[in-house]
Amino acid sequence: MVLFATPLKFLAAGALVSSLEVFADSEFQWNKLHATDKLIWTPCYSGFECSLLEVPLDYSSSAAGTASIAIARYPANCTKSEYRGPILLNPGGPGGSGIDYVIAAGASIATIIGEQYDIVGFDPRGVSYSTPTVSFFQTEVERALWMPPSKNNIVYPSLNQTADAVAIQWARAQLVGQLAVNRNQENYIQYMTTDNTARDMLRITEAFGFDKLQYWGVSYGSVLGSTFAAMFPDKVGRVVVDGVLDMNAWFTANLTLEMGDTNKDLQTFVDGCAAAGPDACAFHASSSAEVAAKLDALSAAIKAQPVPVITPVSYGIVDYTFLRNFIFQALYSPYDTFVGLAQSLADLARGNATTMYAATEVPPFECQCNSTTPFHENEYEAAIAVACGDALPENDTVAQLQAFYASEATVSSFADMWGNWRIVCSGWKLHRENRFKGKPSFLHLACNTADPVTPLVGAKSTADAFPGSVLLTVDSPGHTSVNAHSTCSYGYLREYFQNGTLPAPGTVCRPDGVLFPPAEATTEGVTPRGAGRAAGGADEGLTHDWEGYAPRDAHVCVEEVLVYEISRY
Ligand SMILES: *[C@@H]1O[C@H](CO)[C@@H](O)[C@H](O)[C@H]1NC(C)=O
Ligand SMILES: *[C@@H]1O[C@H](CO)[C@@H](O)[C@H](O)[C@H]1NC(C)=O
Ligand SMILES: *[C@@H]1O[C@H](CO)[C@@H](O)[C@H](O)[C@H]1NC(C)=O
Ligand SMILES: *[C@@H]1O[C@H](CO)[C@@H](O)[C@H](O)[C@H]1NC(C)=O
Ligand SMILES: *[C@@H]1O[C@H](CO)[C@@H](O)[C@H](O)[C@H]1NC(C)=O
Ligand SMILES: *[C@@H]1O[C@H](CO)[C@@H](O)[C@H](O)[C@H]1NC(C)=O
Ligand SMILES: *[C@@H]1O[C@H](CO)[C@@H](O)[C@H](O)[C@H]1NC(C)=O
Repeated sequence: MVLFATPLKFLAAGALVSSLEVFADSEFQWNKLHATDKLIWTPCYSGFECSLLEVPLDYSSSAAGTASIAIARYPANCTKSEYRGPILLNPGGPGGSGIDYVIAAGASIATIIGEQYDIVGFDPRGVSYSTPTVSFFQTEVERALWMPPSKNNIVYPSLNQTADAVAIQWARAQLVGQLAVNRNQENYIQYMTTDNTARDMLRITEAFGFDKLQYWGVSYGSVLGSTFAAMFPDKVGRVVVDGVLDMNAWFTANLTLEMGDTNKDLQTFVDGCAAAGPDACAFHASSSAEVAAKLDALSAAIKAQPVPVITPVSYGIVDYTFLRNFIFQALYSPYDTFVGLAQSLADLARGNATTMYAATEVPPFECQCNSTTPFHENEYEAAIAVACGDALPENDTVAQLQAFYASEATVSSFADMWGNWRIVCSGWKLHRENRFKGKPSFLHLACNTADPVTPLVGAKSTADAFPGSVLLTVDSPGHTSVNAHSTCSYGYLREYFQNGTLPAPGTVCRPDGVLFPPAEATTEGVTPRGAGRAAGGADEGLTHDWEGYAPRDAHVCVEEVLVYEISRY
C-alpha cells in the first residue's frame, strides 16, 4: 500500500538498489549539521552536498517552533552563467525519503534533464532525516514489535486473508490514531501535511535564490506538485507531476478511483506471459485464460496452505497476504519485474516459495538498543500522518469499512490491498483546521489506462484543473514514467526543463523495453533488468545521444505544468 514510484526493493538486486542501501546505511551524520534559514552546503555521501534548512513548523504562527528540512543536491556541473537553478524531486509515499531517492537517482536524472541544474532531493517535513521526525513509538524496538520491519510492505494484510481482516485493521487504526495523539507531546504531527511541504518547497526554492519552483514529483509527489500549483500559481516554474493522483480522491481518503486500471495492468502480465512462450515467461500457459486460471488456483492453494521458508538470511511465511503484496507491487514496474514475477509464481506452484520470499527478504530485526540517533526509516508513520492529516476526517465504523471494501472490490481485484488506505485513516484524530483541503472541482471522470495505482483519469482531471498544462502519455503498464524507461518521454522532459517546450497535446510515447524479452536476452534468475527501478535506473536508456530528437510542435503556456502519465500498453 504505497504510492511510491519505486515502491520497494522488489526483485531488484541491481547496482542502483544496492547503492541505495549502502548509502542509506553508511550514515552521513545529519545531526552534525546545524539548521539555518540559509543553505550551507557540506559534502556528503559521494559527490553530493547536504544542508539543513530551518522552516516554521506552522507558517501562520512562529509559536509552534521550527522544523529542519534535510536537503541533498547532486550539484550542477556547468559555468555560473549556464546555471539554471534547482529542480526539486519527490519520490512519492507519502513518507518516501527524497534524500535516498536523489542519492540513488540524482546522477541519472541529471543525465536526462541536463547538468545545468542542481538535482535536489529533500526529506519532506516529518520524514526520515528531517526533524522532528514523525514517530508514534518511543523506541525502535517498540516500533518493530508493532510492525516488524519488512521491505515487502506486508504491514498491511490482504483484506481477503481472513474474514475478520477489516475489523482487525480498523482496531489497529484506532490504536495508532490514539497513540499518535498520546505521543504528540511536542505538538508537531498536525503540521506534517502536504500544504506545509508545499510551503517548504517555496522556502527551499527561495533559499536557492530563485522565485519559481522547478519540480519533478512522482506518484504521491503529484499531489504535492498539484497542491503547490493550486496554492502558489504565480510561483510555478517548470513542474512535472508524474503518475498523477486524483486530488479529490486524495483529500477525501477515498482512493478507489486509483484502482481503476489495476486489473488491466495484471491483464498485461497474463496476456504478455501467454504470448511470450514458455522460454520467456516461466508461468506460461497456452492462453491468457489459462494463465489467469493458474494464478487463481495458486492463490487459492496458498490461502489453504501457506509455505514456510528458511534461507541463510532470514525466515518467514509465504502466505496469501505475501503473495498478494508481491503481485501487486510487481505491477508498479512491469518492465523490471514481470520476468521475475513469472519465475517466482512458477516456482511457488511447484512448492518452492524460496524464490519469491528471497526476492524481498531482509535480515531479522536487530536492536540498536544503545543507539542515540533517532531511527529515520519512518515511512509507515509518515505515510499515515500525511495521508490522514491531509484528508477530511473520516471515522467509518467496521460495517462502513466492510461496505467500502466490498464496493472497491467491484472496481478492482486489488481492493484487498488498497482498501487499507481508507481503513488506516478511520482512527486518525490530528486534523489541523486551516490546512489546504484540495479542490473538489478537480474530479472529472474519463478513460482507460493500465497504471496499477494512479490511472490516467487522475492525470486528466489534474490537467483540466491547470489550464495550459499538457498531458504526456507513456503508453505502457506500470506506475509513473520512471518505471517505464522511455527515451521518448525523457526527451520531452529534457526539452521541457531546458526550453519550456511542452509536447503537443495528445502526445504519446512508447516505452523502450518489452515486458517479456526473449529468453536469451534476459539476465538470469529473479533480477531481470534489475537496475532500472528509480528514475532512469543506473544503466538503461539514459546515456544515449540526445541529438536525435525531431523538432516538435511547441506552444508556450501561462502555467507550465506538464502532466505526465503512464497509460495503456
Ligand atoms: C563535469 O563536466 C566536465 C566537463 O564537461 C566533465 O569532464 C566532468 O566529468 C563532469 N563532472 C561530473 C561530476 O560529472
Ligand atoms: C469512493 O469513491 C468511489 C469512486 O470515486 C465512489 O464510488 C464511492 O462512493 C466513494 N466512497 C465513499 C465512502 O465516499
Ligand atoms: C478472496 O479470495 C478468494 C480465494 O482466492 C477469491 O476467490 C475471491 O475472489 C477473493 N475475493 C476478493 C473480494 O478479492
Ligand atoms: C527454488 O528455486 C530456486 C530458483 O528457481 C532454486 O535456486 C532453488 O534451489 C529452489 N529451491 C528448492 C528447495 O528447490
Ligand atoms: C552500542 O553497543 C555496541 C555493542 O555493545 C557497541 O559496539 C557500540 O559501540 C555501542 N554504540 C553506542 C552508540 O554506544
Ligand atoms: C465522526 O464522528 C463524529 C461523532 O463521533 C460525528 O459527529 C462526525 O460527523 C463523524 N464524521 C464523519 C465524517 O462521519
Ligand atoms: C533548446 O533550445 C535551443 C535553442 O532553440 C536548442 O538549440 C536546443 O537544442 C534546445 N534543447 C532541447 C533539450 O530541446
